[in-house]
Amino acid sequence: MKSPPNPAQIRVLIVDDNAGDVFLLREMVDCTKSRFRVSAEAGSMEEALRILAEREVDVVLLDLQLPDSRGVDTFSRAHAAAPDVPIIVLSESDDEELALQTVQLGAQEYLVKGRVDGHLLQRALRYAVERARAEAQLASERDLLQTLLENIPDRIYFKDRQSRFIRINRALTALFGLKTAEEAYGKTDADFYGHEHAGEARQDERRVMETGEPLLGKVEFENLADGRKSWSLTTKLPLRDRKGSIIGTCGISREISEMKEMEEQLETERNLLRAVIDNLPDLVFLKDVEGHYLLNNIAHVRWLGGSDPREVRGRTVFDFFPDHLAAEFHRGDMEVAEARQPLLNQEEHMVDAKGNHSWRLTSKIPWLDDNGNTVGLVCISRDVTEQKRAEEHLKKANAELAASREELLHAVRNLQQAHGELRDVQLQLIEAEKMKSIGRLAAGVAHEVKNPLAILKMGLEFLSTQKFTDEHTPEILHEMGDALTRADKVIRGLLDFSAPKQLEVQRESLNGIIENALHLVRGEMKNGVEVELDLQSNLPHLKLDAGKISQVFVNLFTNALHAMENGGLLAVRTFTKQLTGVGSNISDSRAESFRVGQHIVIAEIDDTGHGIPEDKLAKIFEPFFTTKPTGRGTGLGLSVVRTIVDLHGATIDIRNLHEAGVRVTLMFQS
Ligand SMILES: Nc1ncnc2c1ncn2[C@@H]1O[C@H](COP(=O)(O)OP(=O)(O)OP(=O)(O)O)[C@@H](O)[C@H]1O
Ligand SMILES: [Mg+2]
Repeated sequence: MKSPPNPAQIRVLIVDDNAGDVFLLREMVDCTKSRFRVSAEAGSMEEALRILAEREVDVVLLDLQLPDSRGVDTFSRAHAAAPDVPIIVLSESDDEELALQTVQLGAQEYLVKGRVDGHLLQRALRYAVERARAEAQLASERDLLQTLLENIPDRIYFKDRQSRFIRINRALTALFGLKTAEEAYGKTDADFYGHEHAGEARQDERRVMETGEPLLGKVEFENLADGRKSWSLTTKLPLRDRKGSIIGTCGISREISEMKEMEEQLETERNLLRAVIDNLPDLVFLKDVEGHYLLNNIAHVRWLGGSDPREVRGRTVFDFFPDHLAAEFHRGDMEVAEARQPLLNQEEHMVDAKGNHSWRLTSKIPWLDDNGNTVGLVCISRDVTEQKRAEEHLKKANAELAASREELLHAVRNLQQAHGELRDVQLQLIEAEKMKSIGRLAAGVAHEVKNPLAILKMGLEFLSTQKFTDEHTPEILHEMGDALTRADKVIRGLLDFSAPKQLEVQRESLNGIIENALHLVRGEMKNGVEVELDLQSNLPHLKLDAGKISQVFVNLFTNALHAMENGGLLAVRTFTKQLTGVGSNISDSRAESFRVGQHIVIAEIDDTGHGIPEDKLAKIFEPFFTTKPTGRGTGLGLSVVRTIVDLHGATIDIRNLHEAGVRVTLMFQS
């Protein structure tokens, strides 16, 4: 094991094949008080190289003439094996040429063997070690600087007082498109940049040199001679020599084209966005939570009464509106900001700074930061006054249309009613015409048949007083009498129907006439028929032809009794009533002679018989319409009733009762 080197001592390797020389040298190196100590000896180049490879040597004393190496070559090989170990060359000859050669190649000292004494050798060793140390330090610093210059992406250059490059780093070499930095030396900016930039740089450098003040962070646009363009951030410093005199400039410049491009891109985008919002007719604006405007489009600036967005930025609604209005707007905004919920498409009536009224559709959206806190409000407001107006017009038009439609419907209903009435009148006219002809015919027939019938009747009365031997004769005479009575009844009916339309009226009691008529039909009343009378006692007397009205009731009672062959109830009522409206009771053409508010007298006859089939109801007033067998009905009863009722200015209505039977209603004017 090797003993660790004493840091206080400097290890010396003696390379020499002459034992006497080695002895002398060792004596001179290892003398007392010396910091040097011979740590190794080598008699050949081979041995020397091995020791140097092990690196246990601080300085070498090298004889150029060795058995395996000679002259300059000896130095070169040893120096190559340990470039940072200082070598002192020892030579037999005082060869100036050789001395110069080895020193140029890196030898620290060249000593001639015969002329070396202890003192000289000690000094040479000392200098050699010190020089080597200083060189090593310098080399390391140079390396650091070199590393920095070659690896930094920023461009670094040094220029002399005439602004000529004296050193440039790798980044600038690349920018200039050169293979080596040396190609730039002695040249100026004018050789690489456009005329304008070169001139400006020159001036900047002059100023730096004159004032001694650095130029810091200048943004430069560099137009390269080959047409490339680049943006950079440049700092220029004065370059001084050891005495402090300014001998040139040193510059460092950083490529910022990408940043600049992004900046330009951002600017373009900002301009585009600005163009979009400024060209919108809607009001677009942003405000912070205190209500200060941060951004306003042109439409909003104008609405506030301004012309430039800068006039508005940083101000609040209170700067543009009367306090009460501004307070209201502000409160609305703050509510949205606090609720952190967007308020969309709210219709509101607004007045702008100039007092113009408008309807607006406004949306307010809270503007939140990354933590969800409200930092402001984004508002968009659209003028919908025109739409609103159109909407109102439409509403009005719709209402008018609805009213016209109602009027039209009303007119149609009136028309329909008038048409119905016209049709009724027409039917009645036809009916009346028919009745007239039937009446004339009936009157003629009745007149012609009445007299022969009277003769037959008288003949029959005479014959019935005679005595007959034939037992069948009285029976035949009886049947003839019956037939004659029936024929007579038909003739009387026809005469009643066609009788001249004249009445002999006087104030009569309707109740009295009814009671009398009931009495007359007693004969027709079968067992099992009950009569119920409900006659209003203080009924006013009416202007009536008592005989004819009696005939009306007899016919109506007879019809009711015929309908109740198996018994039932015949209910008769009279009462007065004040007309409240033209109701269903007054359905015929007489209805118009009754006025609302008028007092009328009503007679109602209800039976519980079989009723009238609905399809026959329209025909019952026609002469000779009957559903009864021959001999039972002639079908003239209701025709006569109608004629008489009409003559009295009264009305008749016949309808089926819901439960059973028929109700006949007669209405008289009081
Ligand atoms: N109360 C009633 N119940 C049921 N049917 C009735 C009633 N009144 C009238 N009718 C129907 O109306 C028809 C016509 O009646 P109308 O009195 O004119 O003639 P008629 O009774 O048949 O004969 P007559 O000439 O003898 O009166 C009757 O045949 C009958 O069908
Ligand atoms: Mg009848």
